[in-house]
Amino acid sequence: MNILVTGSYGQLGSEIRDLAPDYELHQFVFVDSKECDITQKAEIEKWISVNEINGIINCAAYTAVDLAEDEAAKAKAINTEGVRNLVEVAEEHALRLIHISTDYVFDGTARLPIEVDAKINPIGVYGKTKAEGEKYIFQTPADAIVIRTSWVYSSFGKNFVKTILRLIDERPEIGVVSDQFGSPTYARDLASVCIRIMTQPDPVSSKGRTYHYCNEGVISWHQFAEEIVKLSGKENYPVNAITTADFPTKAKRPVYSALSTTRIKDDFNISIRNWKEALKECLIKIQTGKLD
Ligand SMILES: NC(=O)c1ccc[n+]([C@@H]2O[C@H](COP(=O)([O-])OP(=O)(O)OC[C@H]3O[C@@H](n4cnc5c(N)ncnc54)[C@H](OP(=O)(O)O)[C@@H]3O)[C@@H](O)[C@H]2O)c1
Repeated sequence: MNILVTGSYGQLGSEIRDLAPDYELHQFVFVDSKECDITQKAEIEKWISVNEINGIINCAAYTAVDLAEDEAAKAKAINTEGVRNLVEVAEEHALRLIHISTDYVFDGTARLPIEVDAKINPIGVYGKTKAEGEKYIFQTPADAIVIRTSWVYSSFGKNFVKTILRLIDERPEIGVVSDQFGSPTYARDLASVCIRIMTQPDPVSSKGRTYHYCNEGVISWHQFAEEIVKLSGKENYPVNAITTADFPTKAKRPVYSALSTTRIKDDFNISIRNWKEALKECLIKIQTGKLD
């Protein structure tokens, strides 16, 4: 296949770039926001035609959750209208499209891992613009799917794991929110699944379906931080539990957004590893610059 990866210098896109050489039967075309701005349909079309693309993995998104509250128009242009452009191009050129969405389409009232068909009710601008983008995937006759993911981190880009590693070097102690629960996702694991779903025969006619993908386990941000600290060899470093009220942010975040991954495991016959195992691998990569 010839696969266009949009937003390919973000966390997920970078992991796909890193894994692509393992899939030598397929050609990948990696584009960043300057080369292919998804808010400009003509730019997407140019890349499709020149490279005879037959699949798109959309990693492009406006992901600044707090800033989105002040930049709603920009978030909508990328997360909603950009997705509409990709869907239209997928329809016109009969392409397979994998679009990535978020746990932030949910309001946080669940107390068990959220099923793919649960009612969405985003509580912030970012989640609303992503939810509107998903609708284009559900309405299209094109071969398109949505994969919702949560709490994404990677050795590439900015994320919670790298922030904690920086803070433990800079401060004598840290406070981390212990009353928000979810499941971390190592972007490399999700990247591998995206490539497999794109390149392998579709066993279930997945067109129009919603999937959830995250690593196994439900934890708080505080537990996540404690494990990062422990795995980086600083067991005695103080990680204090604080509440959401102690750490006000511009955007409201769901209190609980763990995702049930049953459908993606069943439909594509994949297994998903535990969050601790994935985190360990990512930390080795961050600390040594390589996997061992
Ligand atoms: N990060 C998380 O915790 C998280 C959680 C749940 C779901 N997700 C979803 O997972 C997906 C991947 O997230 P990520 O963490 O890899 O995001 P990321 O690191 O923020 O990367 C997003 C990429 O999109 C690019 N982009 C922004 N506007 C664009 C445009 N108009 N046209 C083309 N590219 C554009 C950005 O490029 P520039 O830097 O040049 O703007 C950036 O490289 C997204 O759909 C996101 O909503 C993420």
